[in-house]
Amino acid sequence: MAETEPAAKAFLADIEAFLQASGMAPARLGREAVNDPGLVFDLRAGSRSPGADLMDRVRAWMAENRPNDGLAGRTVLLVIGGGIAAYKALDVIRRLQDAGAIVRVIMTRAAHEFVTPLAAGALAGGHVYTDLFDRDAEHDVGHIRLAREADLVVVAPATADRMAGLATGRSDDLTGAVVLATRAPVLLAPAMNPAMWTHPATQRNVAILRGDGVRFVGPRRGEMAEKGEAGVGRMAEPAEIVTAAADLMSGGSSGPLAGKRVVVTSGPTHEPIDPVRYIANRSSGRQGHAIAAAAAAAGADVTLVTGPVTLADPPGVATVHVETARQMLEAVEAALPADIAVMVAAVADWRASETASAKLKKDGSGAPPALAFVENPDILATVGHRETDRPHLVVGFAAETADLVRYGQDKLKRKRADWIVANDVSPQGGAMGGDDNEVVLITPEATETWPRMSKADVADRLVTRMAEEFEA
Ligand code: CTP
Repeated sequence: MAETEPAAKAFLADIEAFLQASGMAPARLGREAVNDPGLVFDLRAGSRSPGADLMDRVRAWMAENRPNDGLAGRTVLLVIGGGIAAYKALDVIRRLQDAGAIVRVIMTRAAHEFVTPLAAGALAGGHVYTDLFDRDAEHDVGHIRLAREADLVVVAPATADRMAGLATGRSDDLTGAVVLATRAPVLLAPAMNPAMWTHPATQRNVAILRGDGVRFVGPRRGEMAEKGEAGVGRMAEPAEIVTAAADLMSGGSSGPLAGKRVVVTSGPTHEPIDPVRYIANRSSGRQGHAIAAAAAAAGADVTLVTGPVTLADPPGVATVHVETARQMLEAVEAALPADIAVMVAAVADWRASETASAKLKKDGSGAPPALAFVENPDILATVGHRETDRPHLVVGFAAETADLVRYGQDKLKRKRADWIVANDVSPQGGAMGGDDNEVVLITPEATETWPRMSKADVADRLVTRMAEEFEA
């Protein structure tokens, strides 16, 4: 039974107080407390009357998850991977403990070549788990328990091979099984030869993992263990890894977009013709989802409004699923006010003027049905032209097959956007559905051409620029 209005109001007030004290993103509270990232947003919008059971569960969860104190009292599951950087993982154990964390250690088989379980175990003050079929460990703490009891999983060093395994969801060893089974955040500290790091296969895996919400620290530029080899691939220093871990545990509230509300649209829209047919386009949603994930990682409170895509909802992001342009506009307006709007969706420009209620049939004459179209609302232009609650920064994308800058500048003015990210969507560019993007950032003052990079990197760079905009 739904509770009375005053009870719901008091409940929301408790939640807001908890969010403020902890610096936690509302989507994370909803997800972790009752597996519903949209909970707080629904309550704020008054579109949901919480029942007594729900309120009890959320309150119990809040009581258990006292406000942010970084790593103190948190259980960190450290996976030591194979690689010459493994010796630094011992320092990571020590520093995590200094920060108050309880450290449990898994060593992959390859890690044994570099450090001994004895050394790691002595430091961690306990058993080191090594292998999915370790009878003792299974008897003592099964992999599901290890996964469940962790507040954070850190993999250091993360090798190219390990990342490939995690990107495809392999669970044929203890590490793979634990990462699949855990609901805690996962932080990877990659370390490998620079040629391996820059290889498209590795970068593809990094993009997939980022899309799944996995966080990264490093790798850094520097001398490698191999004599004379330099480049990006050196593992981040232990102190940096522990700082990244602490930031993650404080709900990202210390990120450059902490306290900012961001609305992102992503994916295509589907415009129905009849119950079985629709108009769509080739947008995969990867760029929009990457931006939502990057903004959340930067501490923002993110609502992602997405058309039909095959991607997972980014963790820590309140994701609203829609089909049509009109539904997308409605969901975006419901998510306002916001500080930043990033409209990445490839919204269908037209919809069928009438949707047939039954499947259109061939009439035998050989003549195709005459479909009439009407224009869809322009979501970016609607947000850009708002008189009230216009986000401080309105960012649009311009999908073009020619004259990128000219059309981009034109869209900037016409849609009253603050920035346009113009990208080439001609088939030879490979942006539509691909992993990489090559964009030009157009502002009223300047035009910046960015080199070709992964969509995750475009997202990170855009988020960095957005944060700078708020510092200025
Ligand atoms: N956009 C939108 N709503 C629409 C159409 C586009 O919000 N109905 C947004 C897109 O999300 C993007 C920007 O507008 O941020 C530009 O999209 P694009 O497809 O490049 O532009 P169009 O408006 O379709 O213009 P044109 O047909 O002239 O290319």
